[in-house]
Amino acid sequence: MPQDTLHSAALDAVMSAAPVIPVIVIERADDAVPLARALVQGGLRVLEVTLRTPAALEAIGAMAAVEGAIVGAGTVLDAQQYEAAAAAGAQFMVSPGLTEALAAHARGHRVPLLPGVATASELMRARELGFSRLKFFPAESAGGANALKGFASVFRDLRFCPTGGITAASAPSYLALPNVACVGGSWLTPADAVAARDWARVEQLARQAAALRA
Ligand code: 3PG
Repeated sequence: MPQDTLHSAALDAVMSAAPVIPVIVIERADDAVPLARALVQGGLRVLEVTLRTPAALEAIGAMAAVEGAIVGAGTVLDAQQYEAAAAAGAQFMVSPGLTEALAAHARGHRVPLLPGVATASELMRARELGFSRLKFFPAESAGGANALKGFASVFRDLRFCPTGGITAASAPSYLALPNVACVGGSWLTPADAVAARDWARVEQLARQAAALRA
């Protein structure tokens, strides 16, 4: 077992709150509240807003005020983004990979980090750095559910949120694995639906995703 499993209780709470975490790329901060409401109303409470657009930090702040929402920041690459997202109100951080600098920053921080890994050596490195709750990214191209099945027998203390290329159709094969707590994906917020402010469609997609774990 790792000497210290960093933020594992807080991350377990996040990862068990819903079977699917919508990975959100937001262009207009004005969309944040209706988008978050649609997802929460559909049954998906945990929302990951990626720091890929200028509107992201404002959107995190706005979404954090939506009742029932647990809002985190995604695509957190360095300590500066970690701080900016925490200041905006993010309750958890997700990174596509892990560096020593990011791990050191997370270790001293109240807001937990879910770091990304893709290979056995990266899992071992993350484990050595104290992490036992991990994002498996990019899931589909890094071996998909079969890779996670392989990791399950070797890394018995690690739990995953796979993301990257996952769809409503492929999500159940991941959620059936004992080492998968939840999956993440952008299929809940199709760019055309968000552009058209079609919140009913987003809510419907969320409702279907929320039903994936019986
Ligand atoms: C991520 O940041 O996890 C991915 O961009 C989500 O992947 P997807 O867009 O393929 O669902």
